[in-house]
Amino acid sequence: MTNQAHIPVMGDAAVAALCPRDNGIYVDGTFGAGGYTRKILDAANCRVIGFDRDPTAIAKAQGWVKDYGERLTLIERPFGEMAEALAEIGITAIDGLVLDLGVSSMQLDEGERGFSFMNPGPLNMRMDGDEQGLTAKRVVAEASEAQLADIIHFYGEDRKARSIARHIIRARNEKEITTTQELADIIVKAAGPMRPDRIHPATRSFQALRIFVNDELGQLVEALLGAEKILRQHGRLVVVTFHSLEDRIVKRFLKQRSGDIANPSRHLPQGAAGPAPSFQLVSKKAFLPSDREIAENARARSAKMRVALRTNAPAPPIPADFNQRLGMPQTSNL
Ligand SMILES: C[S@@+](CC[C@H](N)C(=O)[O-])C[C@H]1O[C@@H](n2cnc3c(N)ncnc32)[C@H](O)[C@@H]1O
Repeated sequence: MTNQAHIPVMGDAAVAALCPRDNGIYVDGTFGAGGYTRKILDAANCRVIGFDRDPTAIAKAQGWVKDYGERLTLIERPFGEMAEALAEIGITAIDGLVLDLGVSSMQLDEGERGFSFMNPGPLNMRMDGDEQGLTAKRVVAEASEAQLADIIHFYGEDRKARSIARHIIRARNEKEITTTQELADIIVKAAGPMRPDRIHPATRSFQALRIFVNDELGQLVEALLGAEKILRQHGRLVVVTFHSLEDRIVKRFLKQRSGDIANPSRHLPQGAAGPAPSFQLVSKKAFLPSDREIAENARARSAKMRVALRTNAPAPPIPADFNQRLGMPQTSNL
């Protein structure tokens, strides 16, 4: 465990983009080690509702709730259920939502959580730690070769997905695969020798399994729709992503909901084609970390931040092909 790994990526930039103000209500959908939340609470005399689906993250921060009193509420629930969870505690409108997606360094560092091939442990990979739910071990044991190849291809964007899937099937026919180390060794065999200038050959497959097991992309879409529902006018949405699949979803969602799309019909006048935009982009381009932040924190390398403001227009209807339009990969369930 290194101290460096615990610096929240783009924390200052994300909180600046959120513009916390006195008496505002802000949601930190990915509480983690609380780095973002603390910055928000320090920036204004506001209230923060922190969500995390990981019971360990919530348990570790119980002392904070005493320190901050009514200004901080922690909720152990997926952020995809944010709007419902907030309604249950009487909150129907918020001034800002921030998401810092992915796993925390705490989760990666603890081998027994099964997220990392660097730290040996059982193949779990569930952020909520639930062993009864769909774990990485179950996916590796039960998915067909085609399903495994699709998962690794779509969520890991690994060109060697088919070969890795074939090797996993062959290995599991010999012996059940139960640990991160066993799986990483099989992937190394399938993908060829490690190269010092490249990422570890298992990186993409581990990312893919984690995204699939936790339905991370489905959660992201639910959170964006939830934000549209509960952000008040001028409320801010700030999303920090770490890979192209996530960023594509956020980018396309905001593009569609801000009306920044090509006129869908040549026969309609410009701008008369759809409902009023529910979001206004702060910038068309994603914000990136500074060179200095990247030098200080390797995890910042792939970070991108997108920021938008809620307008006063009602949330537009959700088209039937919404997920497809956002670029959600189509994989079958187990
Ligand atoms: C990158 S960390 C956030 C770090 C945090 N910004 C900080 O400053 O410490 C991501 C956290 O989000 C949580 N998380 C990821 N997906 C989630 C979801 N769908 N619902 C709730 N929490 C989620 C993870 O459990 C993890 O603790």
